[in-house]
Amino acid sequence: MRLIGKYAVVTGAAQGIGEAIAKRLVEEGASGVALIDISPEHAKEAASRMDDSGKIAFGFGCDVSNQERVGEVFAEITQKFGRIDILVNNAGITRDAMFHKMTDAQWQSVINVNLNGVYNCCQEIICGMRERKYGKIVNLASVSAFGNMGQTNYGAAKAAVIGFTKCLAQESARKCITVNAIAPSYVDTEMLRQVPDEVMQRFLSAIPAGRLAAPSEIASVAAFLASDDSSFVTGECIVVSGGSYM
Ligand SMILES: NC(=O)c1ccc[n+]([C@@H]2O[C@H](COP(=O)([O-])OP(=O)(O)OC[C@H]3O[C@@H](n4cnc5c(N)ncnc54)[C@H](O)[C@@H]3O)[C@@H](O)[C@H]2O)c1
Repeated sequence: MRLIGKYAVVTGAAQGIGEAIAKRLVEEGASGVALIDISPEHAKEAASRMDDSGKIAFGFGCDVSNQERVGEVFAEITQKFGRIDILVNNAGITRDAMFHKMTDAQWQSVINVNLNGVYNCCQEIICGMRERKYGKIVNLASVSAFGNMGQTNYGAAKAAVIGFTKCLAQESARKCITVNAIAPSYVDTEMLRQVPDEVMQRFLSAIPAGRLAAPSEIASVAAFLASDDSSFVTGECIVVSGGSYM
């Protein structure tokens, strides 16, 4: 119960890692958790799965790459909660292709959601956090930032998220705002269902732990970074990879 009295926003929270993080924040005693997702119905369903009281978790529909809509939804959440203490930028997509076959649409969509989405959401909360001298920002990166076949778009976006995290952490440290990233390797979510079986077997054989991560194993790291247990941890990128990146 490390988050009593705290108000949080998690993006891409209708399923997978985002849902596991939002659920964990509720379990840690947060007073309010806003689940943002491109699908408003799925966001609301996820909120009701983790909070039958209907008083703590709330679903909101928003495409994080749509700056205008992000502005509207954060205004709505701020009005409801009074303030936002924790922002978890988790929404992400893949549109994999070898670079010589990559379309402009595949490039742009991945940069827009994975990188510009982080920019859009951080812009909405940073001034309030600076005024109140308190904030916890957690950005979902990926080990693809360190190189992965077929993911120049995704790897570029995630590497940029790590750079963004470190720069914003430096700017914000004296305002008692921590900004950190998590770089998971392979997590058992819908995102991985697009990976062909033979490729997945290759991935698995390269993980010392011999298995995929569960979404809850990323959520526990996010909860640490969202809590005051990480008060002197900022600008870090925590790799959660079952030993693949030592
Ligand atoms: N699954 C993995 O192996 C893995 C590994 C490393 C990093 N990650 C990162 O973790 C994060 C979560 O991944 P996941 O595996 O849970 O994915 P997922 O596909 O299971 O869930 C992603 C969620 O984000 C939502 N979303 C997609 N585009 C959105 C947008 N434009 N605006 C708002 N919501 C949007 C989806 O509707 C979905 O609910 C992503 O940033 C991903 O890049 C995942």
